Amino acid sequence: MQYRVLMRVNGRPVERETEPRTLLVHLLRDELGLTGTHVGCDTSQCGACTVLMDGRAVKSCTVLAVQADGHEIVTVEGLADSVDAALRYGGLHPLQEAFARAHGLQCGFCTPGVLMAGADLLSRNPDPSEADVREALEGNLCRCTGYENIVAAVRLAAELLRERQQAGAGRPAAHAAGGGD
Ligand code: FES
Ligand code: FES
Repeated sequence: MQYRVLMRVNGRPVERETEPRTLLVHLLRDELGLTGTHVGCDTSQCGACTVLMDGRAVKSCTVLAVQADGHEIVTVEGLADSVDAALRYGGLHPLQEAFARAHGLQCGFCTPGVLMAGADLLSRNPDPSEADVREALEGNLCRCTGYENIVAAVRLAAELLRERQQAGAGRPAAHAAGGGD
């Protein structure tokens, strides 16, 4: 039996017929071609499949596609577009920029999931402590970095976001809307 699923993915409406057992991660990767969302385990432990559902980080290997019906999904491909252009640099979300600057990745396999978990954290906490970051990322495993640079990158992203939000708040509205990247 097939079910009709209607959701928004990275700001665009998506409608699909899918089996009730289809996982959201498989719909994203296999049907929509959004292969930035990774599958790193079959035990729901690694977090490589993390996406935002209505702004909250979820492991898309633990969500059925039919459960996403009516919801807003953001994957790593849509991360930069999830913030105002004035907050980006070179088209990158501040988290992506910070991971590049702080060397927050090595092989990059875990990185999409870490970025999405970080985005959830920063939407709730604009100035996270090291402990806050470690707690928010406890569901994301990295086999390469040792986590030090990941934590530093998320805190740098928070700093970049705060700086740009303050700079934007001080600008005339028309100017702020027009630039920044
Ligand atoms: S693939 Fe989802 S937690 Fe590992
Ligand atoms: S950078 Fe390789 S798994 Fe995290």
